[in-house]
This record gives sequence, structure tokens and C-alpha cells, in this order.
Amino acid sequence: MNRFSLQTRLYSGVGSLSVLKRFHEKHIWVICDGFLAHSPLIDMLKQAIPADNRISIFSDITPDPTIATVVEGIAQMQSLKPNVVVGFGGGSALDAAKAIVWFSKQLGIDIETCVAIPTTSGTGSEVTSACVISDPQKGIKYPLFDNALYPDIAILDPELVVSVPPAITANTGLDVLTHALEAYVSPKASDFTDALAEKAAQLVFQYLPVAVSNGECLATRGKMHNAATLAGMAFSQSGLGINHAIAHQLGGQFHLPHGLANALLLTAVIQFNAKDKRAARRYARLAKACHFCPSTANEQVAVNALVRQIEQLKKQCHVPSFSSALKTTAQCFRERIPVMVEAALADVTIKTTPRPADASEIRHLLEEML
Ligand SMILES: NC(=O)c1ccc[n+]([C@@H]2O[C@H](COP(=O)([O-])OP(=O)(O)OC[C@H]3O[C@@H](n4cnc5c(N)ncnc54)[C@H](O)[C@@H]3O)[C@@H](O)[C@H]2O)c1
Ligand SMILES: [Zn+2]
Repeated sequence: MNRFSLQTRLYSGVGSLSVLKRFHEKHIWVICDGFLAHSPLIDMLKQAIPADNRISIFSDITPDPTIATVVEGIAQMQSLKPNVVVGFGGGSALDAAKAIVWFSKQLGIDIETCVAIPTTSGTGSEVTSACVISDPQKGIKYPLFDNALYPDIAILDPELVVSVPPAITANTGLDVLTHALEAYVSPKASDFTDALAEKAAQLVFQYLPVAVSNGECLATRGKMHNAATLAGMAFSQSGLGINHAIAHQLGGQFHLPHGLANALLLTAVIQFNAKDKRAARRYARLAKACHFCPSTANEQVAVNALVRQIEQLKKQCHVPSFSSALKTTAQCFRERIPVMVEAALADVTIKTTPRPADASEIRHLLEEML
């Protein structure tokens, strides 16, 4: 049996922040990072909320939110007891907000509505049952999947992403592509997730280079914002794979931005997975859906065409090489490979990878990155 659930009400397009006009006489608690708390975007958000509401802000979120920040957020939520929680920001702020609401509920503090408003076009966290929390001491990122993590409302307003700088646009956009690809080859993929993943991948290939080079283009930003959510809807149902399982370790150990870590692994992982017959067939189908090769091309030709297009997309997006992205020495990287292999094997996202990988294969993928 296949399960596909739609739990988050989605509002998209320029001006969709006006959905917040429905709230009256509520205590609205906004969770964001320090950058957003001092940016004009927070004023846009406040202006969209009717004046009869009380607004408080928790702005301690950092990239890759930590257990300590979530614990602090839970303590604040216990004393503030808001009616509505608004996660406002990139995946880090949305994940932190979702985790704080989820853990608080276990402690008996519930809210009326959880709203997710992404300001990057990447993680899809606004529509997923996932959040990722980091333990900086251990260098491990813990992905958590639970149906109670779906936000009630997601607002996709492209005006909130025009200020995202090119490098973050590129990283987050390539995270979208990774979600789409992993959802597409997952053993849990279905017609429903295929439709979402295919559309998301097509949008990324068409619009990401423009979003990177001309971030002011609202129409392009809107397409990438939709792509991120479509891919989020796909992987939330079908799961991810080894790309994310390893990328979480590069983020946990070396603080590589999530999307960049995924992007650097992407083509090596496709080549690894494509040794599995079914996965190769799925990649080939996606390459054909994106018109990267003739519909008559054999599987190997189609997979190669997909890999080539991804490498070209990375070039257009100015993705750095692994060695320049890694802010440490090759020696230090090699020393941490055993820890990363062990943690990747324990990462929940590996459960839906299309070609099972053992410790030596993951070690090999990591060694090859240097
Ligand atoms: N929940 C999920 O389903 C899911 C999926 C994938 C990744 N994640 C997690 O999400 C996190 C990554 O999220 P992200 O890639 O969105 O990055 P992020 O939230 O860490 O943000 C990256 C940077 O972009 C800045 N930023 C955000 N919006 C901006 C704007 N409009 N203008 C200018 N700067 C802006 C932030 O201040 C931050 O410095 C990671 O922790 C990752 O593990 C979650
Ligand atoms: Zn991701």
C-alpha cells in the first residue's frame, strides 16, 4: 500500500503574506535567525499581521540549528504560551520552529497554528514532515521525520527571496534538485511523488541559473520557490537517500552549507546508484523528461546526459570545488572519514536509498571527493 498525505495548506505568489490577516487577538511568536530579525523582511512580516495581535520574536536560530537552541526555544515557549508559531527564514529557522513546536507538544504545550514562511528556496521544510537538528559537540546532524511535524500553513511569497545572495541561491537551489532526484529514485517513489519530483527538477534546470545571475527577477524567484516546495512534497512522502546521509556528515563535521554539501556529492552518487538497474532506469527516465537526450537513447547514454547537465548547472551556478569549499586540510578530512561513515550508515535518510551502500562504499565515495 502506498500512502500520500496532504496536510499543509499552501498559499503562494506575490502578496500571499496577506493570509496572515486572518489572525486576530492572538499571541504570534515568530522564530527566525539574527539576520532576518534585523532585515526589512521582518518589517514586511509585521506589517502583514493585524495590529490587534501581540507579536514576540525569538531570533537565536543559527544555520543548522542546535539541540541547545531548540531546548532554549522550548523553555521560552513554555513561559510565553503563544497561540500561533511562525517559522520565518531558511530551512534552519523553519526546522527549529517545527522542532520547538513538536517537543513542546510532547510536554503538553500545544498551539493553534504553526505557520512556515520560507525565505530561501531550498529545503521544502514548509511542507515536510522532517526537521534536522545538530549536535555540534558530536558533529552530527539528526534528521527527524514525524507526521506531527507538518506545518498547518505554508506561505510562499517570492518577494521574500529576492534578497538571497547568489551563492546561497545556488546552494539552496541545488538542494532542491537533490531532493527531486533522491525522491525520484527512492524505492518508495510513486506516480504522485514522480509528478512532483519531475516538475521540480525541470524548474531547477530552467530557472536556477537565472535566479543566481539575476536574483531581482520576481517571476524566476517564484518558479524556484515553487520548485523547492514541490520537491519537499515529493521527498516528504518517498524519503531521501545516500546523498543526504553523507551530506549531513559534511555539514555536521565541517559546517559545509547543506545545499552545497549535497551539490558536491550529486554526480558521484548518481554514478554509484546507477549501477543498480532500477535506479539507472529511473535516472534515464528523468533525463528524458527533461529532454537531455532523445527518447530513444539507451539507459547509459541518458544517465550520462543527466550527469553532464548537472555538472553544467553547477558551473553556471559557480559551485566551488570540494577542496576549496572544505575549510580544512585533506589530512583532517581523511581522519574524520570513519566517524562520517558510521554516522551516514545510522542516518535515517539512508533507509530509502535505491542501491544499498556498505561502510567501504561510503568510505570510497568520501575519499573520491578529495
Ligand atoms: N526539514 C527539511 O525537510 C529539511 C530538508 C533539507 C535541509 N534541511 C535543513 O535546513 C537547513 C538549511 O536551510 P537553508 O539551506 O535554507 O539555509 P539556512 O536557513 O541556514 O540559511 C542560510 C543563510 O541564508 C540567510 N537567508 C535566509 N533568507 C534570506 C533572505 N531572504 N535574504 C538573504 N539571506 C537570507 C540566512 O540568514 C542564513 O545565513 C539545514 O540545517 C538542513 O539540514 C531541512
Ligand atoms: Zn536537503
